[in-house]
Amino acid sequence: MSAAPDPAPPTAPESPDHTPIAIARGLRKVYGSGDTEVVALDGIDVEFVRGQFTAIMGPSGSGKSTLMHCMAGLDRPTAGEAVVDGQSIGRMSERQLTRLRRTRLGFVFQAFNLIPTLTARENITLPVDLARGKLDKAWFDQVIEVVGLGDRLDHRPGELSGGQQQRVAYARALITKPSVVFADEPTGNLDSVSAREVLAFLRSSVDDLGQSVVVVTHDPGTASYADRALFLADGQVVGDLAAPTVDSVIESLREYSEQARAKASAAPARHDAGDAR
Ligand SMILES: Nc1ncnc2c1ncn2[C@@H]1O[C@H](COP(=O)(O)OP(=O)(O)O)[C@@H](O)[C@H]1O
Ligand SMILES: [Mg+2]
Repeated sequence: MSAAPDPAPPTAPESPDHTPIAIARGLRKVYGSGDTEVVALDGIDVEFVRGQFTAIMGPSGSGKSTLMHCMAGLDRPTAGEAVVDGQSIGRMSERQLTRLRRTRLGFVFQAFNLIPTLTARENITLPVDLARGKLDKAWFDQVIEVVGLGDRLDHRPGELSGGQQQRVAYARALITKPSVVFADEPTGNLDSVSAREVLAFLRSSVDDLGQSVVVVTHDPGTASYADRALFLADGQVVGDLAAPTVDSVIESLREYSEQARAKASAAPARHDAGDAR
């Protein structure tokens, strides 16, 4: 922060963009039919805030991955609508969807999916190279600085730790300046030191780069890095916690699992293909 006096304010001060980065409207996803029918999403309405870090939590089988896949255009909902950065995914052709995924969305999966024969630098710039785009060098430098991989860029994935590989995967997801980065259990395969590294990086990608991040996790520690934790149960949003802490997340998880138990004992047993946990 400089102590110099502010320049004269512009006549129309630039208002911050409060439009949501992604919206789910009445999202419903049913897998299978008849006896094998599974309602993975049962009417989800949620707005993801731009420039925020959102954690999606809930028991195994509650629909977290399905929600993320529908929001990211990796799966089509049975009903309802997913809107990303003002664009309705359901109305897009496969071709438009592919383009949206390449240019506006970033993904990080549990398996890092790095190319072993390419260096960290080559892995990171791959999406730009594939799209035959021009690398924004200033942005690349900024991402690298936030990721903290400066001296490891010329190493191949096999020469990097799990946390470093995961950070390469994030840098690769960020390089196209996506509207939003989606990550499913981003720290699931990492030791606790590497997990903290990745979470600190995700946090600073939000704070320093203005990135919007949505992370699926079952870990209260991971959720505590987020600005908001959404809780799913049986394909519905059952809770929405601002500024989650480890304690408040654990408390919420306990509350929702008690609600679920009470509901289950009140209602007749229903088929549930989700794995019990
Ligand atoms: N491709 C699929 N085919 C059939 N059922 C599925 C499929 N994907 C997910 N499901 C079911 O949908 C429900 C929600 O799954 P999922 O979104 O993976 O939950 P979570 O990520 O919270 O563990 C579960 O009951 C799961 O078994
Ligand atoms: Mg999942």
